[in-house]
Amino acid sequence: MHNSWRDINTLYHIYPRSFQDTNDDGIGDLPGITSRLDYLSLVLGVDAIWLSPFFTSPMRDFGYDVANYRQVDSDYGTLDDFKKLLDEAHRRHMKVMIDFVPCHTSDQHAWFKESRSSRDNPKRDYYTWRDPGPDGGAPNNWLSQSGGTSWTFDETTGQYYLHSFLSAQPDLNWDNPSLRKEMTDTVRWWFEQGVDGMRVDAIWGISKDPNLADDPQNPEFHGEHPSEYGHFIHNKCKYGPNFTNYLKELSDVCHEFENRQMIFEFYPDDKIGDFYDQYHQVAAEVNPDVASTFFMELIRSPWNADMLGNGLDRYINYAAKDALPVFCLGNHDQPRIVSRVGESKARAMALLNLTLPGLSVIYYGDEIGMENGELTPSQVRDTFSPLNTSDTTRDLERTPMQWDHSARASFSQVTPWLPIHKNHRAINAMTELSDSSSMLSLYRRLVRLRKQYPVLRIGSFTRLFVGSGYVLAFKRELDDQRVYVVVNFADQPQDIQLPEICSYLVSSQTAPRERESREAKPTLRPLEAVLYIA
Ligand code: NOJ
Ligand code: CA
Repeated sequence: MHNSWRDINTLYHIYPRSFQDTNDDGIGDLPGITSRLDYLSLVLGVDAIWLSPFFTSPMRDFGYDVANYRQVDSDYGTLDDFKKLLDEAHRRHMKVMIDFVPCHTSDQHAWFKESRSSRDNPKRDYYTWRDPGPDGGAPNNWLSQSGGTSWTFDETTGQYYLHSFLSAQPDLNWDNPSLRKEMTDTVRWWFEQGVDGMRVDAIWGISKDPNLADDPQNPEFHGEHPSEYGHFIHNKCKYGPNFTNYLKELSDVCHEFENRQMIFEFYPDDKIGDFYDQYHQVAAEVNPDVASTFFMELIRSPWNADMLGNGLDRYINYAAKDALPVFCLGNHDQPRIVSRVGESKARAMALLNLTLPGLSVIYYGDEIGMENGELTPSQVRDTFSPLNTSDTTRDLERTPMQWDHSARASFSQVTPWLPIHKNHRAINAMTELSDSSSMLSLYRRLVRLRKQYPVLRIGSFTRLFVGSGYVLAFKRELDDQRVYVVVNFADQPQDIQLPEICSYLVSSQTAPRERESREAKPTLRPLEAVLYIA
């Protein structure tokens, strides 16, 4: 693949376990993804895919607990299956991004088995081991994001090891140069296989306070918090002095190859500082040519035109100014967008996502409007947080892709690992393909326009005020091409004034706008988003 990531319009995020099963075990696999590439490339029109982890793993965190970075887990197939997928994607001019988990391994990784075996094992220092604290308990007050302390006592050597997530996910110690070399070599190895990029998991813990000082209490935190995580400001267990140095070392491997890119998973923390300074720090100090961060505020922001408009402006024109901007409406850790905000708003957000600069990411199933799954307690598989219930588990956003209205939605021939949503008889790719008002038809239109008008990918971004505080509006401009995006956040119609007379290209709503002649003062329908061209 010789084109740059800057030429890519849309990145489709696949959760391999839930996309397509081909060997009748109820679990999606790599051959399944290969078999659906025509859907992705021809029907939907995306030009890159990102696969959540498919590496050898005991699946305590469904692949984010890696036991071997260079092997494919038998649930998903073989390395040859992956190479075939890569070839088939490249043949269709699609790039392939894989997931890289730098900050922890599985406790079943060979390094950890060695590390825990004795205090003087050469791999001891690949992880963080400490004697018990003065009271015999954990060495400090750091908490795990999966609940409870982030330290687990290991009988074999009488010390505690550190884990920012599950105890089955011990944290790697990036202060050890040999470990850093192993990790950069792994990245190199995948790039040598032909992989085009990496989404990099949970980067904030890559560097920690070297003295392992306690995290300070959060003075603003009042009230109960079941996990206690909110009681602290996490500026010692995360964002250590080498935070951006290590990320730079990792992503600099991209320079040894052509057109390779890393996108960091990064949720700025308002207790650490200004959101956009944090986004900026990562992009600027790492290397904006090869690394950038996801903009997470389309997921987290309140439903407010001004706040979101301001956030977009600060991310695009400041934080990610020299980097590749990356936008998404959801992922495998967040409730589905349709379930978060409802269908009308989800449609407006789809139009917004696909008219922003850089790379627009589509989480599998969002293009057909999939909703959160409905699970009974015994159907829950994700044990990542003990606080999760069948109403809050991440399994809700990981249910199988709904391909058609048949009994198992053509995901599998057998009972799948998570139940198929019962709405799949109406919400599925096949049915929606022949319905011009479906979510899929909207996505297809938007993806096509994004390809057709490069101004959407690489044009400048300028916020506009169009006469209503409820309307988020911006201009995109490239040479003599100008397009306008307006999103009505109100559930009332809004009269607006565009800067010039325009024609409408696409609306987020089912009933298309009347094909008004060119106009400058349209009325937006409730929760409607529209793309205009001058
Ligand atoms: C973020 C990943 O997206 C999530 O699924 C995972 O559980 C944690 N990082 C730990 O790797
Ligand atoms: Ca399978």
